[in-house]
Amino acid sequence: MSAIRRVGVCGAGGTMGSGIAIVSARAGFETVAYDLDADALAGARAGAERFFAQSVERGKLGEAERDAALAGLSETTRLEALAECDLVIEAVFEDLSTKRELFRRLDPICPEHTLFASNTSTLSISEIASGCGREDRVVGMHFCLPAQLMKLIEMSPGLNTSEASFRSAWEWTERAGQTPVRTQDTPGFILNAFVVPFNNDAIRAVEAGVAEPAEIDKAVKAALGYRMGPLELLDMVGLDTQVRLCEAFHPVTLDPRAAAPPLLRRMVAAGRLGRKSGRGFRAGEEDAPPGGEAEAYEIVSAGPSRSFPEGDAFPARSTPGAGVAVYLGAPHVPDPKRRAILIELGTECLGAHTGEGYGEEGSNVLGFARYRNGDDPPSDLVELVRQPASDPRAIDAARAAFEGAGLQVAVCADQAGRIGDRLVRPKYNDALRFLDEGRAAAKDIDLTCRLGLSYPDGPVERIERGGLAHHHDVTQALFEVYGTPGYAPARRARVARQRASGG
Ligand SMILES: NC(=O)c1ccc[n+]([C@@H]2O[C@H](COP(=O)([O-])OP(=O)(O)OC[C@H]3O[C@@H](n4cnc5c(N)ncnc54)[C@H](O)[C@@H]3O)[C@@H](O)[C@H]2O)c1
Repeated sequence: MSAIRRVGVCGAGGTMGSGIAIVSARAGFETVAYDLDADALAGARAGAERFFAQSVERGKLGEAERDAALAGLSETTRLEALAECDLVIEAVFEDLSTKRELFRRLDPICPEHTLFASNTSTLSISEIASGCGREDRVVGMHFCLPAQLMKLIEMSPGLNTSEASFRSAWEWTERAGQTPVRTQDTPGFILNAFVVPFNNDAIRAVEAGVAEPAEIDKAVKAALGYRMGPLELLDMVGLDTQVRLCEAFHPVTLDPRAAAPPLLRRMVAAGRLGRKSGRGFRAGEEDAPPGGEAEAYEIVSAGPSRSFPEGDAFPARSTPGAGVAVYLGAPHVPDPKRRAILIELGTECLGAHTGEGYGEEGSNVLGFARYRNGDDPPSDLVELVRQPASDPRAIDAARAAFEGAGLQVAVCADQAGRIGDRLVRPKYNDALRFLDEGRAAAKDIDLTCRLGLSYPDGPVERIERGGLAHHHDVTQALFEVYGTPGYAPARRARVARQRASGG
């Protein structure tokens, strides 16, 4: 296969195409930016000039390199101008017939060795390649937004892609300074296959009254170390875009988690599209800072605590007779004179301790758990569990006790899995399933999440650190309550539990 020197980018006036053209030109490839829209191309050219100027100012690029990159980048609205390209990357509209038609028209224009790559997010590479005349030379090359800043590229072969073509395209991404990961031609590859259902789950948690959007985002960031919560991320991506992603994946995968939640559709119908329309789940709303004065608390302990393991500073600050009582493993004693009584929870609900009264549950007794990934040290997040008629003064006192100790508090309803496990466990199950299905290697799954989603670690390394048997126990508890397939413990977790239990 001959070396790639000249690269064509189709749809180079658009969001992704303009960034991909920058990546290619920056790495020294002659780059032909093609689009139907001449104004969009002119805008992209101006954007590239600004981007390269900033790169020089920040010391990331020399002046000579900038000049060479801009000299090597040309624009055209004529498809025939791609005739000399060794690689053509398409980033045109996400529409199967548009992409197929483009490759069919390009086939007689380009030399035989030319590779075609598609930046599609949701379509099948095999279907895009079908009928183009060179199915063996078509690959999936999924860049992340913004392409000129994000290193990750998910690379996938179609069913008819030759290994030599795939390798050649892979080498080009490395020469372009990117980090490729290998995945399969399956809906959403790795990144969107994780994030689309995860974001839907966050919307469903809002729908189910688990917590307010701001509390969910706070919980996810504090518990998992994600840079953005799922609801602020949805506002950034656009709620209409999320609907389109759901509509692309759900009919193909039939995964109920990929179906657009009714609340998402209502938000879009009401014009609440996220940042672009000024209103969404969180748009315009900042995270509330921790407030108020610290509240003294008394620890009532009857053994080890998952929230506050041996050596944790929190129990050491116990103040006998304080207004807040924190029960760690000990059965609580009702005491209406206390400001709050807090019961540490495992996988059980608060109702198991307080009894149930159909809409009237509530007193000064609240539940809590400090989020912990299995055997990992506890995070800073305390999930504070309330019931429908919980005393608001008890919630304030509990918040003040935990925040005063430097912890972060997210208030949630008394529902199984609370916020953290409810949202994250299905994603871990997906990661384990992807391994079973050979969709990607463990290191590539993790790398995709770190580079593409800015997670501090990947799902596979996280479950392994926390313990697969622990993952089994939590998902089993959730599956018993909800019965939805996303919670059914993944095969590897079942195996780990059976081995750990000597079964
Ligand atoms: N936006 C993202 O976050 C993102 C991320 C990864 C991948 N993608 C994928 O990248 C592709 C482009 O998405 P986008 O958000 O950049 O879209 P966009 O609408 O911003 O840009 C598309 C560009 O393609 C041009 N175009 C359309 N049909 C054409 C044709 N037949 N020939 C030449 N040019 C044509 C349009 O004029 C436009 O400039 C899609 O396949 C999308 O799924 C998008």
